[in-house]
Amino acid sequence: MAIWNLGSINADFVYSVPHIPAPGETLASTDRKVFLGGKGANMSVAAARAAARVNHIGAVGHDGRWAVDRLLEYGVDTTHIEQIDVETAQAIIAVDAQGENSIILHQGANVAIPQHTLEQALTRAKTGDTFVFQNETNLQQEGAKLAREMGLTVAYAAAPFDAAAVQTVLPHLDFLILNEVEADQLKSASGQGPADLPVKDVIVTLGSDGATWFGPDGKAHIPAHKVTPVDTTGAGDTFTGYVLACLDRGQPMLQALQTASKAAALMVMRHGTADVIPDLKDVQDFSG
Ligand code: RIB
Ligand code: NA
Repeated sequence: MAIWNLGSINADFVYSVPHIPAPGETLASTDRKVFLGGKGANMSVAAARAAARVNHIGAVGHDGRWAVDRLLEYGVDTTHIEQIDVETAQAIIAVDAQGENSIILHQGANVAIPQHTLEQALTRAKTGDTFVFQNETNLQQEGAKLAREMGLTVAYAAAPFDAAAVQTVLPHLDFLILNEVEADQLKSASGQGPADLPVKDVIVTLGSDGATWFGPDGKAHIPAHKVTPVDTTGAGDTFTGYVLACLDRGQPMLQALQTASKAAALMVMRHGTADVIPDLKDVQDFSG
């Protein structure tokens, strides 16, 4: 089976800072590195690292060939990444001494993905494949609807969170992943908690407290591995990419979540985003 990911592709400019700058504050960084990133690209790389067949659907500008090459190098099929006349998206990321981040996005090409690119890609998908998307591109509703009609498993990582966007795609979803704060926001907006949503599997991630799975037969909790964070950026995306890859390879949900939780723990101990996502061997060897 395969994963089809309608997802963002960003150049991540990551600045290490003692703390996240306050309004009006000017702050010198202690380090700056550039990574391949974007919630979409991070998930594609994570799923490929977890040995899934991954097809990325998206767009970069004419300045974005390097990002496509890097996805290819990491084993992602890039046939359906368009090079268009809009600049490649950027993320300006500040990472503080505790490993927490704050991010400014310039969405660029990510929100100008041509509809025919999505449609063409999905003509190659097969029933039983997984379609995943996040909140950093256009065409979310179109993608979810089309993928559902084609019999794909439709998965949504509701990040960055937008309550209205979640409600629009909710009827098409089989799998929803969101964090605790987002689950609360969704509850205030819709009155529905994770167990009430019309979605087969809902995963609520709880940071250092692990994750809760609300499935067809009730809920289960998976603890997180205790590690000292260096940079939490991309850990959630890594978690999602790993879960979907493990499910795609036929693993039961609990096993998929356990593997993903190890991958996320390794990821928070690494500086950077897509380029440093751990591979399956590192994850299997990790006993923390
Ligand atoms: O989730 C982390 C990602 O968010 C970064 O790679 C950055 O590009 C933003 O999209
Ligand atoms: Na990281």
